[in-house]
Amino acid sequence: MDWNPELLERSFAGKIFGRKIYYYPETDSTNDEAFSLGLAGAPEGTIVIADSQKRGKGRFQRSWHSPSGANIYTSVILRPPFESDGASRIPLMAGVAVAEVLDKYSPGIIKLKWPNDILINGQKVCGILSQARITDRKIDFIVLGIGINVNMNRNQLAVEIQNTATSLAMETGQEISRHELIIRLYENLEKWYKQLLQKGFSSVKGTWLEMTPMIGQKVQVMFKDETIEGQATGIDDDGSLILLEADNKEIKVTAGDATILKR
Ligand code: BTN
Repeated sequence: MDWNPELLERSFAGKIFGRKIYYYPETDSTNDEAFSLGLAGAPEGTIVIADSQKRGKGRFQRSWHSPSGANIYTSVILRPPFESDGASRIPLMAGVAVAEVLDKYSPGIIKLKWPNDILINGQKVCGILSQARITDRKIDFIVLGIGINVNMNRNQLAVEIQNTATSLAMETGQEISRHELIIRLYENLEKWYKQLLQKGFSSVKGTWLEMTPMIGQKVQVMFKDETIEGQATGIDDDGSLILLEADNKEIKVTAGDATILKR
């Protein structure tokens, strides 16, 4: 089904997330659009949705494959009252919120991989890209970008992700309503965001840890030219991954690509 922005606007009535929706049949990147809106003073909860992206962005300057008619590409503006060092909690909170929603479609097999990949059967189904604008060590706003592979089929996957990515439809064998999914997504995101602001990160952390297969496993994290290995033991209050190295030294990893090593 094609997007229906008017219907979406009505579905989000009375909510903070979705109080204003910008819909584009095609755009470069919903994160770039939302960032410009944030700079222009758009309020918290402003949402950008696109049917396709010409320059969809992933973490570490990678591209995010964004064909039309199949998936969800969306970004929301948040204005949390945090100091800049609290910014990394937001994508982890979002990972929990999205994973909980996807679990309704594929019960019991949705997993989180630090920092914020969502996997089904070890294949990536959703990526999250959070970009913050910081002024005087305070968060001015955060653009939280979410890409979910919803109805994409195997032939639509870019060659370089054919062995590592999947879609909800590929896993369930059913076409899924993007409209219904995005409504559930923003409802749950609003719930978890309020919880983070009111009760702190520990409430998010508990659910995050329940949904990851990483804890107790040997993990490798690559960041730029550096590779670190250790047993994952938890996540810290700033969202970093805690690893126990072979010499029993505990280290905290703030950024990188993690892989669970086979035993
Ligand atoms: C990742 O590398 O895993 C993050 C991918 C994030 C992709 C989404 S799609 C909507 C939003 N707009 C973008 O350009 N990127 C994010």
